[in-house]
Amino acid sequence: MKKKVTVVGAGNVGATTAQRIVDKGYADVVLVDVVEGLPQGKALDMLESAPVLGSDAKIAGSNSYEETAASDVIVVTAGIARKPGMSRDDLLLTNMKIVGAVTEAAVKQSPNAVLIIVSNPLDAMVYQGFKVSGFPKNRVVGMAGILDTARFRSFLAAELNVSVRDVQAYVLGGHGDTMVPLVNHTTVAGVPIPQLLSKERLDAIVQRTRDGGAEIVNLLKTGSAYYAPSAAAVEMVEAILFDQKRILPCAALLEGEYGINGVYAGVPVKLGAGGVEEIVQLDLTADEQAALAKSAASVQELIEIMANNGG
Ligand code: LAC
Repeated sequence: MKKKVTVVGAGNVGATTAQRIVDKGYADVVLVDVVEGLPQGKALDMLESAPVLGSDAKIAGSNSYEETAASDVIVVTAGIARKPGMSRDDLLLTNMKIVGAVTEAAVKQSPNAVLIIVSNPLDAMVYQGFKVSGFPKNRVVGMAGILDTARFRSFLAAELNVSVRDVQAYVLGGHGDTMVPLVNHTTVAGVPIPQLLSKERLDAIVQRTRDGGAEIVNLLKTGSAYYAPSAAAVEMVEAILFDQKRILPCAALLEGEYGINGVYAGVPVKLGAGGVEEIVQLDLTADEQAALAKSAASVQELIEIMANNGG
């Protein structure tokens, strides 16, 4: 039987996530949104592209959750997006309610699914999804580290004029201004990046990575990024559906790992059929460890604001 994926939110991130899966054809997709006609229209349009693409995946759009029953993976992209000048944290309380409501409805239909949260502010929203779903921590995971790392890798590849495939890197921590690009674990064909670039250039690329989401928001003016975010979400979907045991930077619940407790933050995880099957502990420098702790503390602040506002 074909695998089944629910994508909640038929905006740019959700629809592009659905499209990438349908194009590849390995899973059926149900696209859900509150706006009448939007998920149905986009799903029908994608379905009609399948003969051209040679995909036998089925895709349906819906305003409710019955059709999503027994999904293997649920991807939550619902929520409002940033406008120029807004930080991801400005979305907190509005998206807390949206993510809470859609998670509750989706997990009722698919109690054994792995839940991937993509909505912002990412780490706080994954925590909300974890709390509302009642799922074990391994089945609730957030997408952001792959996106931040992809931005870092693409800037480095362009700077060094090499293939993106030969740039290995990790960006850890929260998906926000405090994210932690691990310069010491970044290599090009095995060569540590500090040997290839001046500190000045490297610092500039790290800063551009941190501001990567805002750079796109400022260009688009009416929304935030979706091609790279959806590509990152789909990499996670595939790791889970095909039990690939990929080591990928994702937001996972930390319970003592990296000295952090009770907070979702981006760390390398082993992602397979069970969801987060392991949290991979890298050797961090004292500076990196401190930066990760600071990043986790800023996620903790958001969790507290949610708790004080009915979250
Ligand atoms: C970004 C937003 C989607 O980083 O968080 O592009």
